[in-house]
Amino acid sequence: MRVLLGVSGSVSCYRAADIARDLMRAGHDVRVCLTDSAAKFVSPILFETLTENPCLTDTFEEPITGQMAHIDWAREADAILIAPCTANTTSRLAHGVAADMLTTIVVASTAPLLIAPAMNPSMYASDQVQWALSILESRAATIITPQEGDVASGEVGLGKLAPNPEILEAVESVLARTQLLAGKHIVVTSGPTEEPIDDVRFLTNRSSGKMGAAVARAALLMGARVTVIAGPQAAALPLTATVHPVKTADQMLEKALEVSEDADWIIGVAAVADYRPEAATSGKFRRSEDALTLRLIPNPDIIATLAAARPKARVIAFAAEPDADISVAREKIVKKGVFAIAANDISRNDIGFGSENNELTLIRANGEPQFSGKRSKLSAALWLLENLAQE
Ligand code: PMT
Repeated sequence: MRVLLGVSGSVSCYRAADIARDLMRAGHDVRVCLTDSAAKFVSPILFETLTENPCLTDTFEEPITGQMAHIDWAREADAILIAPCTANTTSRLAHGVAADMLTTIVVASTAPLLIAPAMNPSMYASDQVQWALSILESRAATIITPQEGDVASGEVGLGKLAPNPEILEAVESVLARTQLLAGKHIVVTSGPTEEPIDDVRFLTNRSSGKMGAAVARAALLMGARVTVIAGPQAAALPLTATVHPVKTADQMLEKALEVSEDADWIIGVAAVADYRPEAATSGKFRRSEDALTLRLIPNPDIIATLAAARPKARVIAFAAEPDADISVAREKIVKKGVFAIAANDISRNDIGFGSENNELTLIRANGEPQFSGKRSKLSAALWLLENLAQE
């Protein structure tokens, strides 16, 4: 596999040479990119000699004339490791600041990112760095925690670059994850549906589509080809997924049946309206003093229909539960004919609808439930898919 090793300007830069060699010994093709500060500590020639690849520093440096290295290297990397990663580079990456060749490549890449921070303990403990790391973690970056020890300033504390074997192990496990769903086609339903009352009003719910986007992103990070059938959701979907926008439950079902013929997994994250107005009025319903009765009829159960129509696919439903009791969610496995259910408690404000985080309970027909604990939606999605992929 191809690993891009980014090196930023810490005294521990010298250890990047060993890291590059260890990655090569593990069979990987290693490309190195230095920040300007790193190039003051170590020379690009060192890495060029070790890796037999060009080592980049300057954003405008082009090893092949007429090509754009910052795009090619971004696309061709199977994983990006930044070791050591300074406070400056960590903060730039958290905010998408493409200020030099290394940060430009990372911003342009969808490859899994690993960050091995190395800095003075006070800098590592600062709100700014911890905040930047939490942003990166919420976007699925793997943070390789530094070790306690003596740092360049002579102080002792948490901030010393993690030991090389730990860094290597993290890279190998992230690379292994990218293969877990390789070759699989995963279809995801996401977001709310809109059921028209007339041409200007509709019934909907509070789904933002963040969880659906996270599941799609996690499946991509695990090597799958991903198709999303998305209701009118606020959250952005990954560019590398094929997205089919729909509005109503009927449209979602029709599109899901159309695209899922070769699906290996189908995951129902969408909050589908269970009912819709029996007849939508065309134009605008005029106000009057009379009471208005809206007759609702049931919508199709999309995930149950897909489970019946696609017996070869592994179908997974989500369950929006109004409390922590998982007995109703467990019943949905049989009722909907799915392989497993991921239940979340939507009575809480800090998880479920609209929030950045979620807490999933993975329930299968048999066996003990598994609990993800509270984490970012992306991390919860990775947890879910990793658990299911290992069966
Ligand atoms: O979008 P976010 O703001 O990030 O919020 C995420 C979420 C809370 C919407 C998500 O995590 C979630 O719980 N999704 C499922 C919502 C839901 O409709 O739950 P349910 O228990 O009513 O339905 C169970 C399953 O049946 C779900 O997979 C649902 O997609 C599916 N279903 C339900 C009704 C229907 N008519 N057709 C369906 O396919």
